[in-house]
Amino acid sequence: MRIFVTGLVLAMGMIGLAHAEGDPKEGQTKSAVCAACHGADGNSAVPTFPKLAGQGERYLIKQILDIKSGDRPVPEMAGMTDGLTEQDIADIAAYFASQPATVGSASEATLKQGESLYRAGNAAKGIPACSGCHSPDGAGNFPAGFPRLSGQHSDYVAKQLQNFRSGDRSNDGESRIMRDIAANMSDAEIKALANYILGLH
Ligand code: HEC
Ligand code: HEC
Repeated sequence: MRIFVTGLVLAMGMIGLAHAEGDPKEGQTKSAVCAACHGADGNSAVPTFPKLAGQGERYLIKQILDIKSGDRPVPEMAGMTDGLTEQDIADIAAYFASQPATVGSASEATLKQGESLYRAGNAAKGIPACSGCHSPDGAGNFPAGFPRLSGQHSDYVAKQLQNFRSGDRSNDGESRIMRDIAANMSDAEIKALANYILGLH
């Protein structure tokens, strides 16, 4: 697994997008329209709207480009990314990346199951440890483009895992990393992981 992950990190590093340097001050102004859903500082108050605060720039840029191109359909954001230039996107990503992210509190019921899956995976079911890529505290691996999960809303996380499993979200590339992992997960496992991630830090 370690060799696989290291190889992947290298591969993803080599195909890295060449992007403009982002200016967080500019990004704050340019992200005014995003605040309605994602929160002015990127900590959204609505559990179906993802927190963007503290997220890695590289991941944010990729997602905004994927939403803009339609590779990742987000109907709620229809038209909002059309007018954004590469510089705008880099600035907005730099702004949200610079904001401290809040963490929620997980409920006790499925905490142990979620923690065990996150830290150790389930080899028999073909589920690798999430910590290998998203890091033990959920901080992600920003140079590799592996997103921060720490404190992300449970509803949002569960929906992403369901969408990867069904193929409704398919922008994880030709390596199909997240689609292949989610394919092996039950609804109960998705719920337990989403609950654990809400409080993870
Ligand atoms: C009307 C509400 C709304 C507005 C306004 C909005 N978004 Fe979103 N955004 C969403 C929703 C809902 C999702 C998640 C969709 C899903 O479940 O996959 C999302 C997802 C994202 C993601 C992916 C996050 C992740 O963790 O993968 C990024 C990045 C993003 N939005 C950036 C922006 C930016 C930049 C703006 C302003 C230009 C913006 N959004 C405006 C609703 C909104
Ligand atoms: C081999 C590396 C790897 C492993 C292991 C891995 N992930 Fe991921 N994960 C990724 C990458 C890369 C993405 C971003 C895909 C993209 O660019 O859209 C991602 C995206 C996600 C997202 C979407 C985040 C967002 O903000 O929308 C969630 C949720 C997620 N992973 C959860 C998990 C869970 C839970 C596990 C363990 C069961 C796991 N991942 C294991 C690499 C990994």
